[in-house]
Amino acid sequence: MAAQLMVEGVPAVELAERFGTPLYAISETSIRERYRRTLAAVRRVYDPVEVYYAVKSNPILAVRRILAQEGAGGDAFGPGEVETSLRAGVPGEKLVMNGQAKTEEWLELAVKHGITVTLDNPGELELLLEVAGRAGVRAPAFIRLKLSMDEVRLDVAPEGPQIADRVLATVWGFTEDEAKEAVTRALGAPDRLLLRGYHHHIGYFINRPDYHAAAMRDVVGAVARLRDATGFVPEVLDVGGGWAYPSDPESGDEHPHKVAPPEDFAAVQLGALGEAFDAAGLPRPLVIFELGRSLVGESTVLLARVQWVKEQFGRRFVITDAQKHLLLRACIEGYKYRWVRADDLEAPKVGPAELFGPTCTDDELAVSYDFPAVARGDVVAALACGAYAQTFNASLNSMARPAVVLVDGEDAAVVVRRETVDDVLARYELPGRLT
Ligand SMILES: Cc1ncc(COP(=O)(O)O)c(C=O)c1O
Repeated sequence: MAAQLMVEGVPAVELAERFGTPLYAISETSIRERYRRTLAAVRRVYDPVEVYYAVKSNPILAVRRILAQEGAGGDAFGPGEVETSLRAGVPGEKLVMNGQAKTEEWLELAVKHGITVTLDNPGELELLLEVAGRAGVRAPAFIRLKLSMDEVRLDVAPEGPQIADRVLATVWGFTEDEAKEAVTRALGAPDRLLLRGYHHHIGYFINRPDYHAAAMRDVVGAVARLRDATGFVPEVLDVGGGWAYPSDPESGDEHPHKVAPPEDFAAVQLGALGEAFDAAGLPRPLVIFELGRSLVGESTVLLARVQWVKEQFGRRFVITDAQKHLLLRACIEGYKYRWVRADDLEAPKVGPAELFGPTCTDDELAVSYDFPAVARGDVVAALACGAYAQTFNASLNSMARPAVVLVDGEDAAVVVRRETVDDVLARYELPGRLT
């Protein structure tokens, strides 16, 4: 019998039949296993350390709930992500509020729930002091650092200089000089602010652990200089996310390629971090990761049904019902997903296909993609689209967005219901003069 694409114990074709297409299907076990493996990997090489979940990478309540059950705190940008995390059962003390444009209301929300605020600029520090003062509490906070990344520039070959330049062009964080003043200011207001430490997220630029290690040396260098200037010794260092994972759609390489396992990311990054703290004569702080893509990326497939196949001018067009905006980062950031025929993973490739979605743009899902023979009604699937597809997906031609099912063993349940056309139109209003 042909090897079928399975989502845990359920054939993908059966899910498509039962819930309709397009459909995202998530494996619960994949998320739990990946989280446990990651936590074990970091704990083996560093103490103390926590793995938080960056909910932006997949904001579905059920996904956040699974990771809350596993004990993961989290990062949150704004009230929507805070509310998702709280509803999922994450306590406020295990949340970090990030972002460069937090409003007074966001800061009030953070203070109300004891959420650690990652301060992004000096004005925001003053606003938090005001909000905490009004509430009569001591607000926990990190200072986010924006550094010149000299270690990354020099030690990461050949991409280092380009990455370091790119970091300087990002919006987030305090320069070292700004941080010096902010630390002094924060330490001068101990009744309203508890400065727990620093935050630094360089994120995914490349899929290698040595680059995260170099970033850690940059961070500890800054932390040590700030200690010399202010006397402040952090209890916590939040190092953000950015780990790659096996399918690695973000690299833009649709062919299977080797990516280091989480054990290597943990050993290389935390090894460098621990050594740098020891060399600087600083006590090792609690390290918090805020991982997103590497925890959920592999967990999900997008199922689509072939509508028609057309052979024209030497090209084979495979037209499906899934538009490319369901994998929006493929359009805007060059992510490349792997596509398979769901009922037969070993079906021989018969040459290049142009995989298309149904909308009126150039709805290319994959271009000149070596693909098996398929016919109307077959189910095809994009693999490893658990990270950022939910966050970024959009819909053209007023099409309703897909449902999402969560599979655990043989059990499959809807965790996001399929949109209806009424949902799509729900926020439109006609002013009286147009009725
Ligand atoms: C502040 C912060 N933390 C964590 C993450 C998660 O990163 P990743 O999904 O690459 O692990 C992001 C992603 O953009 C982020 O901005």
